[in-house]
Amino acid sequence: MQVFGESVSFDKRLAGYDLQGSLGHASMLKSVGLLTEEEFSSIEKGIHELMEEVKSDSFPWKLDLEDVHMNLEQALKAKTDAADKLHTGRSRNDQVATDMRLFFKDACNHLKTGIEGAMLAMLSLAREYATLPIPGYTHLQRAQPVTVGHHLLAHIESLGRDHERFSRVIEHANVCPLGSGAIAGSTLPLDRELVAKTLGFVDENGEARITPNGMDAVADRDIFVEFAAAASMCALHLSRLAEDMILWNSSEFGFIILPDAFTTGSSLMPQKKNPDSFELIRGKTGRVIGNLTNLLVTIKGLPLTYNRDLQEDKPPVFDSLDQLGQSLAVVAECLNSAEFDREKCLAAASDPLLLATDLADYLVEAGVPFRQAHHLVGRLVSLAEEKNLSLPNLSDEDVSEVSEHLTGDWREVFNLERAFAKREKPGMPGP
Ligand code: ARG
Repeated sequence: MQVFGESVSFDKRLAGYDLQGSLGHASMLKSVGLLTEEEFSSIEKGIHELMEEVKSDSFPWKLDLEDVHMNLEQALKAKTDAADKLHTGRSRNDQVATDMRLFFKDACNHLKTGIEGAMLAMLSLAREYATLPIPGYTHLQRAQPVTVGHHLLAHIESLGRDHERFSRVIEHANVCPLGSGAIAGSTLPLDRELVAKTLGFVDENGEARITPNGMDAVADRDIFVEFAAAASMCALHLSRLAEDMILWNSSEFGFIILPDAFTTGSSLMPQKKNPDSFELIRGKTGRVIGNLTNLLVTIKGLPLTYNRDLQEDKPPVFDSLDQLGQSLAVVAECLNSAEFDREKCLAAASDPLLLATDLADYLVEAGVPFRQAHHLVGRLVSLAEEKNLSLPNLSDEDVSEVSEHLTGDWREVFNLERAFAKREKPGMPGP
């Protein structure tokens, strides 16, 4: 049962937050007269020593003390008898809820910084290749020309929403559960606002934010799910980006050249340069989504309030933080030294069929209703296929037979520069 029930092997990661929470709690106990000045000073000194031991990785974690909370409390007890008073008016239930809220604030800020790094790398590539044409795809079929800038900015949009989502998780985490005790608070004269303020659980005016119901405070795992969901969404976005990069890096596309440090050779085939970095990002996304499912299923059938099942809530969120954090760093570093092959991009985007829609628009401007214009251009596409010609190489005779409006300058439609220059409204790939 000792081996089965321990959590210190993974929750020791919360040590810094646990000590911070304990220090805040102790200073509140002092202020309401439940600790003397001397008792508080010895606890404070002990906690600072423990912080150092944890930081330098010299703290002797013991599995038989079950979790991070018991380990640290016992270690403090070895330094001062006043440690026996630290757990006054507190339960491990509100303690772990507080630790995790502190953890989520840091974790979200870390991921927001990671997202910013990935966005900046994409932005600098988007800037460098702002007007380089590539085909845009639907159904993985060439659809219409876009630019590398337009395509990369699309990925930046989705990461921007992820950034916002993590800000919202921080906002939700920013409420202090201390004072809830096990479920029903305490008979002691605790000052909940004071400890909330000490630990930074405050609104924009510096007012304390405290949980309004002690049962909910220890049972609630919403933030875990919100965090795991935000991480899943972000991983999903990176996975779709990864798929684009994997395709673009293939010989079939050849649009992008990934740096050697982020690709690997094959142990058998000497010519291979595999996009492992992006394949791993795509693969790890499954894991991050699994972590969300893991939490949802763990919480689903639990009666209020705390149940020991909830000890299992930490590994999935730690893993989502680690995997997503690394994925974001890899995206940033890899794209920072990636290059586009201008010739191959331009060649692929110069397929005149990509501008078939522009030809229909040309007919619309001559007064042809769009449905008819669409049909007429469809006929031209078939005709070109039949004659084994590209669209602009059809003869004036052939095209004017399909539509009387296709005379004179109709071939100008196939000029890529014109096509982009005509797309200057917001949301479009114009220069
Ligand atoms: N290690 C425990 C957890 O994370 C701390 C809370 C324990 N509470 C309890 N009533 N046993 O779930």
